[in-house]
Amino acid sequence: MDISMKRRTLLKVIVLGDSGVGKTSLMNQYVYKKFNRQYKATIGADFVTKELQIDDKLVTLQIWDTAGQERFHSLGAAFYRGSDCCVLVYDVNVNKSFEALQNWHEEFLKQADPTDPAAFPFILLGNKIDIDGGNSREVSEKKAREWCAAKGNIPYFETSAKEDYNVDEAFLCVAKTGLTNE
Ligand code: GTP
Ligand code: MG
Repeated sequence: MDISMKRRTLLKVIVLGDSGVGKTSLMNQYVYKKFNRQYKATIGADFVTKELQIDDKLVTLQIWDTAGQERFHSLGAAFYRGSDCCVLVYDVNVNKSFEALQNWHEEFLKQADPTDPAAFPFILLGNKIDIDGGNSREVSEKKAREWCAAKGNIPYFETSAKEDYNVDEAFLCVAKTGLTNE
């Protein structure tokens, strides 16, 4: 098939989660194949784009990185509207970041106000699984999967932005899940 015949789709993806869980790092690994040890807090929001092909569709992911730190929150409802997928991120070594997911999930639905909240595509990423060979984990995979099941079977991936583990797989799922919401 001629490339111009393919359907082009732009998907707006919002990445949310506590400060320091690795939102920016996951995006940088996915889009630029780079990892930075140094922490630099995200202020406000910014996006990167990545093109991928799924079957006969050309998909452009417009991935919005956001600030986990409360004092850098300045996003109004207009920012969230029109989203096709929401990626929630926590750090498997920090229970507090897992407990906070409830809030991020609620806040997103409140702001984005999708037509069918129960069917809106979320994805959960449990990041930093490389640390200490898993010995410093505070949240088990089982616990995370239970949360996802309770929220209507949200797909779940355990990732390492540092080691580039499961990052491509997670964002491919983001694209596929986002497409179902078109
Ligand atoms: P905010 O912008 O404040 O919301 O934080 P963030 O969620 O964007 O976190 P960021 O990506 O800046 O990562 C925070 C710190 O964790 C940085 O020092 C990263 O290098 C480190 N980090 C991120 N992902 C991983 C990972 O998978 N493994 C390890 N070991 N460190 C990581
Ligand atoms: Mg950041």
